[in-house]
Amino acid sequence: QPPKVVVIGSLNMDLVVKARRAPKRGETVMGDEIHFIPGGKGANQAVGLARLGAEISMIGAVGSDSFGRELKRALKKTGVNITGVKEHDSQATGVASILLAEGDNSIVVVPGANALCLPEDLEDNERMIAEADLVLLQLEIPLATVEYGIQLAKKHGKIVMLNPAPAQSLSQELLSQVDYLTPNRSELALLAGMPEESSVAQGINRLLDTGVTCCVTTLGAEGAAFMEKEGSITKILGHQVPVVDTTGAGDAFNAGLAYALAQQKSIREAAEFAVEVSALAVTKFGAQGGMPRLREVEEHFTLGQYSERG
Ligand code: RIB
Ligand code: NA
Repeated sequence: QPPKVVVIGSLNMDLVVKARRAPKRGETVMGDEIHFIPGGKGANQAVGLARLGAEISMIGAVGSDSFGRELKRALKKTGVNITGVKEHDSQATGVASILLAEGDNSIVVVPGANALCLPEDLEDNERMIAEADLVLLQLEIPLATVEYGIQLAKKHGKIVMLNPAPAQSLSQELLSQVDYLTPNRSELALLAGMPEESSVAQGINRLLDTGVTCCVTTLGAEGAAFMEKEGSITKILGHQVPVVDTTGAGDAFNAGLAYALAQQKSIREAAEFAVEVSALAVTKFGAQGGMPRLREVEEHFTLGQYSERG
């Protein structure tokens, strides 16, 4: 029986520009490539889950334009149920402008129709939530919708997982309802109200004090670390892989974690699996392009193709 997950979140068209180096302020540089590919943290996580084999429904919003139609088509092709993705005339589909240069990425997101994903859309899809094992959210849609989504998920006794990206400070009231919170290092620092130099354990402790049940922090190539209430910090080592594009690495991690947790796996097993999913995802171009299938994850890691790094 595949796990059932509902993703409440964003859909963006990613405009990816590759250049040898990033322009300085006021400077023009020549680029090498441009790609228009499906993205958005919500959609990326939904695709990641679908590739792994989860039964997945997405709630979100696009504009009634060609980008919106393309994003919906891409989701549907991967097997995501898109009856909860609404089309709006009054706003364009969300766009992320992504610059890949010098081995790094920088992203500007213009939410467009994602801003029209409202609490009432969740009411329309309450059945979907009631039938899920786990509800997964991010912060590229209005905060009121995130709050209401968490509330509905709790009402139906579902596991609530929140990927607090892009970073935004959150109320204790909201955090206290989250079962699994998955910030990266900088999101952790912001949420905990601590300088980025402070230790991961300090940041996580702060968040557990707000009532979060478990905090899982992604550490890029270093892997991840997690801690549960009253527990101690556990580190999962990252894998040594040939990196092509780290865009969506966090989304792959969240997909992997949600997939395993929705099947009642332990947090340690889930975090190890998520690190593997994310390691494979960065070996391919595009946020959704590298999301692996379950079989690929199993093959690569049971064969020991990718070693761990300390
Ligand atoms: O997490 C990566 C995603 O962030 C990109 O696909 C882009 O759309 C932005 O939302
Ligand atoms: Na990728």
